[in-house]
Amino acid sequence: MMRRTILSALLVPLLGVLALLALSLRSPEAGSAATVDEGPLAEAMEAIEDELRALREGMKKGAEGTPDCLRAVAALQVAAGEAKVAVPPMAEEKEGAERADFLREFRRSLIGMQRKLLDLEERLLDGKLEEAQALYKEVRRMEDSGHERFAGDH
Ligand code: HEM
Repeated sequence: MMRRTILSALLVPLLGVLALLALSLRSPEAGSAATVDEGPLAEAMEAIEDELRALREGMKKGAEGTPDCLRAVAALQVAAGEAKVAVPPMAEEKEGAERADFLREFRRSLIGMQRKLLDLEERLLDGKLEEAQALYKEVRRMEDSGHERFAGDH
């Protein structure tokens, strides 16, 4: 009886430490909606994520952050251009006209994103930060709809 009490007194904190260790070893992405894949599309998407973050941080600094924002928005345009010519894994499950339609709509969505990014760049050049911020939010919103339609489980 006594031994069992000592044992459980040791076991409980030990399990706690192990649980904390397991949590700290998780990759930062674990638990988020995006899983990590390889290939040109995944790379472009990761760049989009990083540069959108840089853009948001730059905009928080007001006019002072504009050079950072201009760099980030140009990098976003490059990444969106790389993404639109890639083939999403979901396309591999389709054939013929269905596959062609899927790829056309995928490309069209990313063209929409490129267009918003060009508008955003112009607003930055004109010093219209509020308008740039509104466009940033629109681009951000494209993530959910894009993933729902073209990435399935991402
Ligand atoms: C606008 C903000 C967006 C962000 C921040 C974003 C971010 C991401 C991230 C982090 C991934 C996971 C990449 C990986 O596996 O490592 C991903 C995957 C993907 N995204 Fe986006 N995305 C955005 C917009 C879009 C749009 C507009 C589309 C489609 C028109 C799209 C289509 C996809 C597809 C198809 C995948 C799966 C790639 C694969 O499995 O190889 N994303 N995205």
